[in-house]
Amino acid sequence: MMSLGNRSMSPYEQVVLPASELLSENEIQKGLRTSFVGRTIYAFRRVKSTSDFAFRVAEEGALEGTVVLAEEQTAGRGRFGRSWHSPPGVGIWCSVVLRPNMFPWEAPRITMVAALAVVRAVRNETGLCATLKWPNDVLIRGRKICGILTELSAEIESINFIIVGIGLNVNQRETQFPSTLRGRATSLRSECGREVSRIRLLRSLFSEFEETYGHLLGKGFSTLREEIRSHSTILHRTVSVRLKNRVYKGRAIDIDERGGLVLELSNGRIEHVLAGDVSVDKD
Ligand code: BTN
Repeated sequence: MMSLGNRSMSPYEQVVLPASELLSENEIQKGLRTSFVGRTIYAFRRVKSTSDFAFRVAEEGALEGTVVLAEEQTAGRGRFGRSWHSPPGVGIWCSVVLRPNMFPWEAPRITMVAALAVVRAVRNETGLCATLKWPNDVLIRGRKICGILTELSAEIESINFIIVGIGLNVNQRETQFPSTLRGRATSLRSECGREVSRIRLLRSLFSEFEETYGHLLGKGFSTLREEIRSHSTILHRTVSVRLKNRVYKGRAIDIDERGGLVLELSNGRIEHVLAGDVSVDKD
């Protein structure tokens, strides 16, 4: 174990959890059936950002599948420099170190297969059907339950490592979300009407991610792409995709082999977009 973050302080001012529901390496690994994801876990009570810590251990040589997780993040990060609300004891805030042998431009597929693993794990543990909003959001009834932040350390033609950061709202009550998120974000508890075991959910997530990621590396993206398409909430809708200073407006018609979004623009041109912030327009 490393000594970053304050692992001895109690973050449970408002939340009291039984020991079996605290996110500890031992508890998670008890019933874990993976061969590499979650075989090494750094579990913190409080840390700035699990992705920052994962980046550091990856630079120091952490093995593929190493997981960093925390009960609370004090500076959780989302995409485009946004912050990620990560209160103690109610969510899964975790980052996974990967070392895939692939080109940097193939990395968007990693985000997609991680999101697919979240959809499967949520279904396994709650029976809820979540949907995917390309490229990195998982929704239930149109509200966000999970965001994924994929960050690379890479050379021009090769990846050193990838950090996949997963933020999954599990047991928040509606009122625990800041007012800016209310109505746009939700938790599994709000959606299924009961507390959900984060430990069981994590084990399921690690297994599903090992399966989707392993499938991607061993057999390619095609079958996974079919499954991703079937859960996609934006296909066949008119969307705006914001990327840096550009906005692409068009009909989302497919997800391509690289994990990019295929747009049919109003002038009929086909555009493949590899990343961006999507909003659905009124048709
Ligand atoms: C997004 O939707 O913008 C992505 C959010 C990703 C949040 C997770 S929580 C665990 C990991 N650590 C972070 O600081 N961010 C990611």
